[in-house]
Amino acid sequence: MGELRVRSVLVTGANRGIGLGLVQHLLALPNPPEWVFATCRDPKGQRAQELQKLASKHPNLVIVPLEVTDPASIKAAAASVGERLKGSGLNLLINNAGVLNANTLETETLKDMLHVYTTNTIAPLLLSQAFLPLLKKAAQESPGSRMSCSKAAIVNMSSTAGSIKEVFLWESAQCISYRCSKAALNMLTRCQSMGYREHGILCVALHPGWVQTDMGNVAGCTELQKLASKHPNLVIVPLEVTDPASIKAAAASVGERLKGSGLNLLINNAGIAKTNSLDTETLDNMSQLFTTNTIAPLLLGQAFLPLLKKAAQGSPGSGMSCSKAAIVNMSSIGGSIKEMYLWEAAHCVAYRCSKAALNMLTRCQSMGYREHGILCVALHPGWVQTDMGNAAGYTPPLTVDASVGGMLKVLSNLSEKDSGAFLDWEGNVVAW
Ligand SMILES: NC(=O)c1ccc[n+]([C@@H]2O[C@H](COP(=O)([O-])OP(=O)(O)OC[C@H]3O[C@@H](n4cnc5c(N)ncnc54)[C@H](OP(=O)(O)O)[C@@H]3O)[C@@H](O)[C@H]2O)c1
Repeated sequence: MGELRVRSVLVTGANRGIGLGLVQHLLALPNPPEWVFATCRDPKGQRAQELQKLASKHPNLVIVPLEVTDPASIKAAAASVGERLKGSGLNLLINNAGVLNANTLETETLKDMLHVYTTNTIAPLLLSQAFLPLLKKAAQESPGSRMSCSKAAIVNMSSTAGSIKEVFLWESAQCISYRCSKAALNMLTRCQSMGYREHGILCVALHPGWVQTDMGNVAGCTELQKLASKHPNLVIVPLEVTDPASIKAAAASVGERLKGSGLNLLINNAGIAKTNSLDTETLDNMSQLFTTNTIAPLLLGQAFLPLLKKAAQGSPGSGMSCSKAAIVNMSSIGGSIKEMYLWEAAHCVAYRCSKAALNMLTRCQSMGYREHGILCVALHPGWVQTDMGNAAGYTPPLTVDASVGGMLKVLSNLSEKDSGAFLDWEGNVVAW
C-alpha cells in the first residue's frame, strides 16, 4: 500500500466527527502535509476547541472559517488558502461537511430538503469551482500523467445511504433528503471526474462506513432501536417538533396505537441550546430556539390534548397526578429570571429567553387545562452530562441516571397543588 504523501490538503467540516479525524490522521502521517487547511464555520466556538488545540501544536495546520452554504464564504476561503499557498497549488480537496435529518416520506419538507441538498450536494460543487484553479495548479506542478490524491484530487464524502441499489438501513431511518442528496453527490462526483480528467484531477466519492459521530449516532437511532427490539411496549414515533404536520402525524399514530384509550403523560423533552451572547444573537437563531423550545411544547399540548383529556376522564377521582393526566415541560434553571444561573460561563440569550417563555407557557397550560384534570409542570433536570450539558465546556455534576432517577421520583409525588410549578430534579421549587 502506497503512503499518502500530499503537500497540501483542505478538509471541510473539520471541527468534529470524521472531518476532525481526518485532520488528526493527516497530521500524524510519517510525512505529514506541509499545509492542512481545516475549515469550520465557527473557529472560535465551543465545538472547534479540539481543532484549536491541534492548531496550537501543529504550525502546518491552518483553521479557515467556512460556511459551505454561503458562496461569499467559499470565495473568501479559496482566496485565503491561495494566499497561504504562495503561488503553489492545492493537492487534495475533501468535501466532508454534511448534514442529516431523520425526516420520513411524511415529514420531509421543502425547507429541510433544500437545506440538506444545499449543504451535501451544492456546496461540494461550489467548493470545487472555487478551488479549481488551485487544484489545476497542483496537477501541473506534479510530473507524470498518473492521477493520485497526492497530485490533485477531489474527494466527496458520500454514503451508502445514497446508494440507489442498497437503500442501506431503510427500516431504521428513512432520511429521505439525506439519501437523495448523497445520490446526487455521487452523480456530481461522476460529472466532476469526466470534466476534470483533462486537468489531471482525480475525483472520487467515498463512503466512510457507519461511524460513531454525532451524525452516525442520529442516523441509526442505535440505542433506541436496540431498546425497542427488546421491549415490545416501546414504540418509536417519528417526530420533528418544529413541524406542525409531523406533530399531527405523531398524535394520530399514537392515538391509533392506544386504540381508544388516553395518553397519561406527555413529556416535552426535545430542546436545543446555543451559546450566543447579546452581541452574537440573531433573528434566525432566536426564532429557531423559540420554535423548538417554546412553540413546539404548545403545539404538542394542543395536538395531544384530546388523548390527555381521555386519560383524565378514564381515571376515577378528582385529584391530579402524572399517572392520571399530565404535561411535563423540560425547562431549565437557565430560564430563571431571578437566578440568572451560570451567566458568567455562558450567556445563551436565546436559550434563557426560550425557557423563561416555556415556564410561562406551563403556567398558562396549568390554568387552562386544570378544568380537564390535567396537571402541568415545568421541570429543571439539573446540569446533566449530555451533549447539551457538556457544551458549556465544563463537566456537569449530574449523570443522566441520577437526573432521570430524581425526576421520576418527583413526578410520582406530584398532585394538584403542584400544577403550574417550576421544580428541579430533587423536587425543590425553582424561582421564576
Ligand atoms: N457518521 C457516519 O456514519 C457517516 C456515514 C456515511 C457518510 N457520512 C458522511 O461523512 C461526512 C462527515 O460526517 P460526520 O459523521 O463526521 O458528521 P458530524 O459529526 O455531524 O459533522 C458534520 C460536520 O459538517 C459540518 N457542517 C455541517 N453543515 C455545515 C455548513 N453549512 N457549513 C460548514 N460546515 C458544516 C459540521 O460543522 P458544525 O460543527 O459547525 O455543525 C461538522 O463539522 C458527512 O458528509 C456525512 O454525510 C457519515
